[in-house]
Order: sequence, then structure tokens, then C-alpha cells
Amino acid sequence: MRMVDIIHQKRNGGALSEDQINFFINGVVSGDIPDYQTTALLMAIYYQNMTVDERTILTKAMLNSGDRLDLHKIPGIKVDKHSTGGIGDKVSIPLAPIVAAAGIPDPMVSGRGLGNTGGTLDKLEAIPGYKVEESEAQFIKQVSDIGLAIIGATGNIAPADKKIYALRDVTDTVDSIPLIASSIMSKKIASGTDALVFDVKTGSGAFMKTYDKAKELAQALVDIGKNAGIKSIAVITDMSQPLGNKIGNSLEIEESIDLLKGKGPDDLKEVTLTLGSYMAILGQKAQSFNEAYQMLDKVISSGAALDKFRQMLKAQGADDHVIDDYSIMPQAKYHFDLLAERTGTIGQLSANEVGIASMMLGGGRLKIDDQLDYSVGVVLHKKVGDLVKEGESILTIYSNHQDVAEVKALLNNHISIVETADKPRLIYETIY
Ligand code: URA
Repeated sequence: MRMVDIIHQKRNGGALSEDQINFFINGVVSGDIPDYQTTALLMAIYYQNMTVDERTILTKAMLNSGDRLDLHKIPGIKVDKHSTGGIGDKVSIPLAPIVAAAGIPDPMVSGRGLGNTGGTLDKLEAIPGYKVEESEAQFIKQVSDIGLAIIGATGNIAPADKKIYALRDVTDTVDSIPLIASSIMSKKIASGTDALVFDVKTGSGAFMKTYDKAKELAQALVDIGKNAGIKSIAVITDMSQPLGNKIGNSLEIEESIDLLKGKGPDDLKEVTLTLGSYMAILGQKAQSFNEAYQMLDKVISSGAALDKFRQMLKAQGADDHVIDDYSIMPQAKYHFDLLAERTGTIGQLSANEVGIASMMLGGGRLKIDDQLDYSVGVVLHKKVGDLVKEGESILTIYSNHQDVAEVKALLNNHISIVETADKPRLIYETIY
């Protein structure tokens, strides 16, 4: 088999066979296929797309290029959730203990921040002592014992994806639906879960800016899941403005714990319980969405979900006093309010720029080895559709520097006050 023939076939719009895709992936991992041929094929896929069968074969080939966690020793149907990422998206942190408290084992393998979006592992590391690394045996034992763990990837997960992703990043072939879907699915399936719920975000702070693209990705993920024998549901949710009111690592832990105490903001609660309800259905703990939603609401009000969170903190070496005292996490020295210049309704509060602001304050990485400042971020007092009076605070900037003029200017340019505006829809559609 020759790589040049595979490129030719895809360049001309043909579907690739299983042997051809396996040849490609094996060659990428072994180093036999040079980067220029790999990127030529990636560009051909970008323009010519792939069938559902090709996407599934590509996913399996990338999955088989590395280790796969074997979680069969954990009793029950294991269900995980994956978000395509957004600003203020801390859902995984309250969600895992909520579903675990309802009897659904959640072996969650999470990531770090990507671009302007924060990562679950970074946020959890704001809690003193939290360890994100566990061996496969520790991970299995913890999920078996208490029903949940949130860790970073262990072992050598999908090395083909690592190599291909790095090449996509520098050849402008990232935003290709077959390449994104196979990349996400190969890593998720390798993490050993039985079923998956996806939160596909759409809007300025999302990877998929338009609704059509988000829907295409949601469908692609569900189709691959079906073909690969992993039950999957995707929910398309809004990311035109940040989710919840707090953005930044320590701040998002506070809001997550607030939700577990029954005090979290409504939008965060709705997205969390919606995703959790589908997890409960896939985990066969509920027959209907309404039954699942009520069950999850109950584990919050009874304190069972907060208790699960405490168990997870203890199991992963963290100081569980954080639950009652947020000040044990890093705290910013200065707070600055952004005041409304006129009376009206918030018409736009761009998630993307709030994410950039948080990054400029030190809450995200500009370079791979940047140290994060867990204490900084933004707290929103108003969201789209809320009334605001002249001089009232729209948001507070949490900073360790006294000069936040640039951050204020960026936010000011991306917040509008208009006569009237509706609240944006939060949950758009569910793809089965
Ligand atoms: N996240 C991934 O894991 N892969 C992609 O291709 C895009 C987002």
C-alpha cells in the first residue's frame, strides 16, 4: 500500500477502506509516514469529509494506537460526560458527584484548559492538595468504592491523536468535523466508559461558533458512538455568554460547591441536571427525563451530592475544609467593578471575551508551561436580558494587579446595554 494512493483517493472524494485507514494510523504512530503526507491527507479529509463508516474506522484505529482503560471490574453501567468546552463551564465538577450520589458510576477523565476555556483539572487544582494523577488500579478502586473520580488521562491514550492533533494545529485543519469527532471519541472510548453524554456548546465562547456546525458535530459524535457500541447522547447548549456567574479557577470551584449546596445559579443548575438526567437514563437508573431530573434534584437537596464531593476530595488528597471555607483557595488581592454607563438591558455579554479577560488576568495559559493564577477571574452580576441601572456593577474583576485598564476596555467593548433583550435559549436540542 502506498500513502500517495490513499491521499489521491481522498483528494478525489473517495471513501477510504479499513485497511487504508489502519495503514495510515499505524504509519503515523511508527513514524513511517512523513508529516508532509499526513498533513496532505488531513487537508484532503478537511475538504472531502468522511462517511460515518470512515469516521468510525478512524476512531477505532486511533483508539487502538494506545492504551485502553479496562473498567469492567467497576460494577454498574459507567457513564461519562464530555463538553466541547466553554467559558464558565464548570459542569463536570458538580455533575460527577450528583450522578454518583444517584448510583451512576462516573469515571471521569478530564483535561486542562484549551485556548480561552478553562479545564476541569486546572480548576480542581485550585483546591489545596487535589491530585489529578492516579494509577489505573487506584482509579478503578476509587470509582468502585465511592462511585466517582475526576483525574487526568493515565498511560498512553490515543498517541495517534496526539501526533495528528499537533499537525492539525499548525496546518489549519482543526475545524474539520470528522477529525474533531474521531479525536474526541478515540480518547473518550479509551477511557473505558460504557456510555457518553456530550455537551456540544454553540456561540462566541464555543469551539463551534454556529448552531449548524454544533449540530453537525453533535450528530457525528453520536453516530460514531452508535457504530462503536458506546451509547451516546449529545445536548446542544448555549455558549454565547458564560455559563453561571463565576469565571476563573477558584471562583468556579466556589460556584460548583454552591450548586451542590442548592445555591448555584439557575443556568448552571439546568445544564448540569439536563446532562445528568441523560446520564441517568443511559445508566438505567431512570426511565424518563423527568424522573431522572427529580431524582438528581433530590440528591442535591438531601446533601447526598455534597457528601459525594467530600468523599472525592478526601480520596484525591484534597482539603475538604474548602466546602465550608472557600478562602483556603488562592484569593485575588484586588476587586474592580465594571459599572454600567447607562440604564437599560444587557444585550450582549460575549463569552469569548470574558474568557480572554480571565486569561489576561492570569487564569489561563498563553504558553503550554505558563503557571496559572487560580485566584483571578470575573464575577458576573448581570447576564443577557437582565435590567441594569446607570452606575450599577455589571461585573467584578478579580486581579492580583492594580492595572486592569486593558481588561476593562476589552470587556466594555463586548458588553452592550440596549432597550430590551430576551434571555438566550440555554438548551437547544438533544441528539440521540
Ligand atoms: N478536542 C479534541 O479532543 N479534539 C479535537 O479535535 C478538538 C477538540
